[in-house]
Amino acid sequence: MDVAEAVERLGKGQPVAIPTETVYGLAADASQPAAVARVFELKGRPADHPLIVHLGDASWATSWGHLPPPFDSLAQRFWPGPLTLVVPRLDWVDPLITGGQSTVALRVPRHPLALQVLQRLGRGLVAPSANRFGHTSPTTAQHVRDEFGEEVAVLDGGPCLVGVESTILDLSGPRPRILRPGQLSRADLEAVVGELDQLVGEVPRVPGSLDRHYAPRTFTRLGGGEQPPPGRWGWLGFSPRGASHEVIVPANATDYAQRLYSALRELDRAGLEIILVEPPPQTPEWEAVWDRLRRATRS
Ligand code: TXA
Ligand code: MG
Repeated sequence: MDVAEAVERLGKGQPVAIPTETVYGLAADASQPAAVARVFELKGRPADHPLIVHLGDASWATSWGHLPPPFDSLAQRFWPGPLTLVVPRLDWVDPLITGGQSTVALRVPRHPLALQVLQRLGRGLVAPSANRFGHTSPTTAQHVRDEFGEEVAVLDGGPCLVGVESTILDLSGPRPRILRPGQLSRADLEAVVGELDQLVGEVPRVPGSLDRHYAPRTFTRLGGGEQPPPGRWGWLGFSPRGASHEVIVPANATDYAQRLYSALRELDRAGLEIILVEPPPQTPEWEAVWDRLRRATRS
């Protein structure tokens, strides 16, 4: 499928998977309620979990939300890019998109194919990560095919460069606060808007904040592998440990994040009894990785 076909399908109300710089999204025309409903159905996503509206340009945001003061400086600095801004919604916005909330989440993605699709269609797209609800997010076109098979056409834009979902910043309260950590860090955002609220990801309506999310199907836990578990085991770590199947990941947080979901998917496919994940350093640049690892693992 090329950009023209993706735009044609979207215009007809059919969801298609598109690449973004973070993860692949299951896109549908945000202005067509039946198309949005189909996305919930395909993902198996509960109706009270809101979707992000993707825009072709920051100027489109005025059609969706009331934009509080820090909005313009954030959009100017970070869009297109892996930042989602939550703002009070306009009245016309479909409650299915917002999970019945009074706010709407907006983002302008940076992937050139996503931008082409948005600009040719000329309307906002909902685009949750293109995985079944609760499962690991896709960072390649093949990952999307592994999730949905023939049911969803994929626009192949290569492997995603960021690899974890956008940072979500809530601008609807008295002070901006991070609802989901991502590649853009607290420090990056504070450089533009001043000090953020300290709370992170403690808002119930963010599915990323459910405990079991981004999860492989194989039992996966954090551990150093000093005592190899019995049976066939997998290892996701910074150096080899002699496991039945190993994925060695880069030691810097940016490259690690880019590899994380494909590493989890590769290990999940290997028919293992358990996957051990070596805990990364406990420093701020690893915050987004830690957030995903905590949700992907059990103790
Ligand atoms: O990087 C991303 O953001 C990717 C790519 C495809 O753009 N999309 C993505 O969508 O991660 P999804 O649906 O998997 O996650 C959307 C997150 C959820 O945690 C949802 O609760 C939150 O955004 N969200 C959406 N609208 C919200 C709102 N009005 N208030 C608070 N959180 C909201
Ligand atoms: Mg998701």
